[in-house]
Amino acid sequence: MKISRLISAGCLTATVAVAASSVPVTFDKDVLPILQSNCQSCHRPGEVAPMSLLTYQDARPWAKAIKTALLNHQMPPWFADPKIGHFANDRALKEADIQTIVAWADNGAPKGNPADAPPPLKFEDGWNLQPDLVIEMPRDFAVKATGTINYQYIRVKGNIARDLWVSEAEMRPGNPAVLHHGKVWVVPPGSHWMEDAEYGVAYEAGMGRNTTEEGNDILGKFNPGLGAQTFEVNGSAKLVPKGSDFVFEMHYTATGKPTTDRSKLGLVLAKTAPASRYFLSAGPTASNLVIPAGDGNAEVVSEVTVGLPDAKLVYAQPHMHLRGKDFELRAIYPTGETETLFKAKFDFNWQLGYQFAKPIPLPQGTRLLGISHFDNSVNNRFNPDPSQEVRWGPQNWDEMSNCFVGLVFGVDDDPARLFYRSGVSLQPRGTAGPKLVDVQLTAAAH
Ligand code: HEC
Repeated sequence: MKISRLISAGCLTATVAVAASSVPVTFDKDVLPILQSNCQSCHRPGEVAPMSLLTYQDARPWAKAIKTALLNHQMPPWFADPKIGHFANDRALKEADIQTIVAWADNGAPKGNPADAPPPLKFEDGWNLQPDLVIEMPRDFAVKATGTINYQYIRVKGNIARDLWVSEAEMRPGNPAVLHHGKVWVVPPGSHWMEDAEYGVAYEAGMGRNTTEEGNDILGKFNPGLGAQTFEVNGSAKLVPKGSDFVFEMHYTATGKPTTDRSKLGLVLAKTAPASRYFLSAGPTASNLVIPAGDGNAEVVSEVTVGLPDAKLVYAQPHMHLRGKDFELRAIYPTGETETLFKAKFDFNWQLGYQFAKPIPLPQGTRLLGISHFDNSVNNRFNPDPSQEVRWGPQNWDEMSNCFVGLVFGVDDDPARLFYRSGVSLQPRGTAGPKLVDVQLTAAAH
């Protein structure tokens, strides 16, 4: 912060230039180590980013673009408000590293001395974990060359003969160049979502409602650079009930030539009996939302109340569509105390998840509010149609507002009792909102 103010203050520019020329910032010595630890997981051949940043030759033409992307906090993708909460998977670049790269770009992006360069990183093309069990799409999905590809849902037979407790999962794309992000859901016996689907066939919609209240649970996710996910938080694990099937939810992007993908999920089974259960819930969900036409900052609030005695929040992943701007999770504890647990800008292209550094206890009766904002104006370049009033729905031109939340709770507790809808989420649809002014901020919801 201090350095950026110095640089923008004209009278001090000379001082900075002198300092910079006496200890020049070079690619080999200063920039490459930063790119290795923060960028190359995505910026290398075959990965999702549009260009490689492995070598000086790769990175040199992008020096100015890199400077801009870092100063705008566009890269690396990480949107949490730095003033709120601490996250185990924090990807934000340190201010000092940003300034190093800015200084390099401003001084002609010199290469430096090869002797100063760290050895190139070795990338594993295989698993980041050692799977006990692998679940694979039974056939290739044909990815077309151009145009938008809607979300695809593929049901896969489980053959799960007994309850399994899973401590780690990793979803691996068959073709990382086209899989933008994906999820693999556990669908337990008794769930109605996609119950009529033929195994292995890709569906776009119309296969019933996916509700975490029926026990559907996200088992593994792929986002570029995410790697393996652990469900082990003080001895917790994820349950795959006997008889479960799996649904691959895939978001592909076209790359200019037709190709295929066949992704898979690797699971590591818990070595000991789990101390608690890790479950991903849809969290506060605004299925009664209304976003007025043209509104550049439409507020929408949703609410659930904690129904289990011993639940702790470990993970948050907001979900909205193309008009989504930001999302906040706020707890109103039974004592009446209010606390913002998480706040982040939202970008539809990055369905990012945030792993809390420490589990946050949510006592029974805690009300969890989801507070989101949408840009339904002409200024939003992703807006499919600013003249439309928008409601809840599955397509990109509809909207959603919910926050997938990871919680740990007792192994014998029923996830269906984790949350119940309360407050504004029980209100009939209005003409906007529901908004914060409709929420009783201190009194109990019932
Ligand atoms: C999680 C994956 C990921 C990481 C980590 C990441 N990038 Fe990116 N980057 C992307 C993708 C995907 C795009 C293209 C889409 C976009 O712009 O959002 C991109 C775009 C960019 C662009 C813009 C290219 C243009 O067209 O102008 C720059 C510059 C950039 N990245 C630099 C960096 C730097 C520097 C780092 C590390 C400090 C970094 N990125 C880390 C995935 C990543």
